[in-house]
Amino acid sequence: MSNEKICLTGVKPTGMPHLGNFIGAIKPAIENVKNSDMEGYFFIADYHSLITVHDGEQLRNDIYEVAATWLAAGLDPEKAVLYKQSDIPEITELNWIISCFASKGLMNRAHAYKAKKDKNAEEKRDEDYGINMGLFSYPVLMAADILFMNTKYVPVGEDQLQHIEIARDIASSFNHKYGDILTLPEAIVSKEENKLLPGLDGRKMSKSYNNHIPCFIPEKKLKKMINKITTDSTPPEAPKNPDDSLIFDIYKFFATREEQDALAKRYQEGIGWGYAKLELFEVVNRELKPMREKYDALMADKSQIDKILADGAAKIRPIAQENLRRIKKAIGVSN
Ligand code: TRP
Repeated sequence: MSNEKICLTGVKPTGMPHLGNFIGAIKPAIENVKNSDMEGYFFIADYHSLITVHDGEQLRNDIYEVAATWLAAGLDPEKAVLYKQSDIPEITELNWIISCFASKGLMNRAHAYKAKKDKNAEEKRDEDYGINMGLFSYPVLMAADILFMNTKYVPVGEDQLQHIEIARDIASSFNHKYGDILTLPEAIVSKEENKLLPGLDGRKMSKSYNNHIPCFIPEKKLKKMINKITTDSTPPEAPKNPDDSLIFDIYKFFATREEQDALAKRYQEGIGWGYAKLELFEVVNRELKPMREKYDALMADKSQIDKILADGAAKIRPIAQENLRRIKKAIGVSN
């Protein structure tokens, strides 16, 4: 029953995405669906966020911010489906069913849980300190997200490969008992995903390093953040090496080939860091400006987002119900 065309991916709502998320995940995922004949499904993994976000107002806002970002970045809800995990109760129903086919040993080795447990051990605390069952079973819910649609392809970052392996493992155990019911998913790790956008200090852009630029901050603030990029004290007239410049590294992700050649030439002739930062601001802002306007409009009238998410859920649920019906029949809880 596998559908070769289904391409599905989830995003955890954790506040406004940053430029690293945009370059590494959002943009390639949207382009991937645009340029192929695959059916794109994008969902907001709000129940995954509940593992760490225990503030209703915050989670509600985070959900809107992620939805608005994907829509502003070009996700066309007429061509791809955008929905919210919690709107599809079949996912949590399947979560229980497949948890009975997920070996605990596999969960013990899942990296998010293991990292937390190891840290507890390192800091000489009880090894279960601060760990809820949601974190422990994170990979099972993620498997349910994927398996309930008979998904074939899952575009993800490299850090998620283990979770896809777990989903495959669970699906095989299930199929081993009941026949070919669940589709074994395959991860797609896009090339762009490997090209990581550096952050303001040169390390990978990440919220946890606090070196990130949120996608849709006002123009003035964007300029200010770009000005914070670490530079050395070479004088303006000294020739500079573009291959050894953080400003240039970021510039490459947003500028055309010709623009890159032109800026490289100015580097060699000698350019003040202030000017280089201005050039960077121009190309980043050029790409973000139309998206920022769309984002602001969506956030100002959230009813549009509500409608898109409700439509998405309405498209998905009949498929979810049909798949779950087959699964429940197979396991013997219904006829
Ligand atoms: N775990 C993923 C992440 O943190 C988010 C996610 C949840 C997901 N469910 C998914 C991704 C299903 C792909 C498919 O990035």
